Amino acid sequence: ELSPIDKAKFVAAKRSVDYVEDGMRVGLGTGSTAAWMVRCLGELVRDDGLKIRGVPSSTRTAELARDVGIEVISIDEAKWLDLTIDGADEFDGNLNLIKGGGGALLQEKIVATASDQMIVIADIGKEVEHLGAFPLPVEVIPFGWQTTRALIEELLVSMDVLGRDASLRMNGRHPYVTDEGNYILDLHLGRIGDPHQMAMVLNQMPGVVENGLFMDICDIVIIGHGNGKVETRD
Ligand code: A5P
Repeated sequence: ELSPIDKAKFVAAKRSVDYVEDGMRVGLGTGSTAAWMVRCLGELVRDDGLKIRGVPSSTRTAELARDVGIEVISIDEAKWLDLTIDGADEFDGNLNLIKGGGGALLQEKIVATASDQMIVIADIGKEVEHLGAFPLPVEVIPFGWQTTRALIEELLVSMDVLGRDASLRMNGRHPYVTDEGNYILDLHLGRIGDPHQMAMVLNQMPGVVENGLFMDICDIVIIGHGNGKVETRD
């Protein structure tokens, strides 16, 4: 028996695989919601003979996809993707997102950007009026990360945000390390006045590899509710 939140994630994931057709190259997101989607896709591959190739956005997802019988290829083998399905930490009314709570934002953004279509699957609790209550993940290279953090905090003084603390994401007593060998700074902004500008200025900073704002990338959000209801926004 699933908890209401898991049920919400599951029903959104289940609906999203309706968009997957034979022959597609499908970007596979990361996180607990995306994991439901990968399992649903695996079922279609095994039971209905669906023919797809999956491009995982993390080593975690690659492992799960193989386990459930999905043929896994790299993004460079795929060259271009028909569809990416992924979760999100927040989405707003313009279908802009914060992602990276699970640490896979860099590969997720590359995969989603190389896709004709991106579908986000989320429980209703991820919907926000303004992005930024969820700490914004920023992937930085380990070299000089404290200097990069100081520069980011300084930059935030001139931006329309409520908070500007940047904390290094930890994995126990050590820094969390991404699939690409980088660190993550979580920016506690509270509210981002201009997310387009924020996304741009962060990526101009030396040492920053990518940030978790997904602007104008997502086409459809499929929202699951705890009672099993599903809504779609596009
Ligand atoms: C992974 O890096 C993230 O972008 C996830 O998509 C996001 O954190 C959502 O995760 P859940 O589906 O587990 O909430």
